[in-house]
Amino acid sequence: MSRKKILAPSILTADFSNLSQQVRSVELGGADWIHCDVMDGKFVPNLTFGPVVVKAVRKVTKLPLDVHLMIKDPDLLIKDFIHAGADWITVHQEEVVHLNRTLTMIHELGAKTGVAINPSTPISTLSEVIHLVDMVLVMTVNPGFGGQKFIENSFRKIHELIEMRKLNSADFLIEVDGGIGLDNIRKLSEAGCDAFVVGNAIYGKDNITAATMELKNLIV
Ligand code: DX5
Ligand code: ZN
Repeated sequence: MSRKKILAPSILTADFSNLSQQVRSVELGGADWIHCDVMDGKFVPNLTFGPVVVKAVRKVTKLPLDVHLMIKDPDLLIKDFIHAGADWITVHQEEVVHLNRTLTMIHELGAKTGVAINPSTPISTLSEVIHLVDMVLVMTVNPGFGGQKFIENSFRKIHELIEMRKLNSADFLIEVDGGIGLDNIRKLSEAGCDAFVVGNAIYGKDNITAATMELKNLIV
């Protein structure tokens, strides 16, 4: 089954003093989603933003908001992020004890579910919730910061996930996040990934719109 390929610029490295224009620039370049990297300084050693920024981004774009919660106890804030305008809520498998309940809650609140797995987390940890998952986010760096180096053995994990999806007659998207750019996005697309989170390779460039277009053209 062929799925639409999705480019999801991460605003993690955007210029927050001009966020509306930064979002517009990736929209003009053909971005499909806006990826919002939420960090609490506990689950990861960095602190970014909360529902108030998601609400602000919601006001300036109609693109789906793909909210990646790199936070402890995400159950406490999921409702706030969905009410702020999140379309996708991705929690970390490593952090959620009652994952079945959390994913069920996200669906009941009207959003799509994502589960993120860190580089050291096997995909087998997802086996009991695979039919509650709309997307698996394969972290291709250790979470917490933009601009890190892509972890090469992520390709093996992607292949295993594709097999798991087939074996379970599941239909979740496979998203990759971290260290993605011109040098590896085409290869990741050909490997079967559906959604691509890109931060620095877009927002670290002088021409944000052109960088978005160039990456988008490599995943069609
Ligand atoms: C890591 C973040 C980053 C960000 C993208 O916690 O999730 O991966 O989205 O970062 P770049 O594309 O700059 O590596
Ligand atoms: Zn992310």
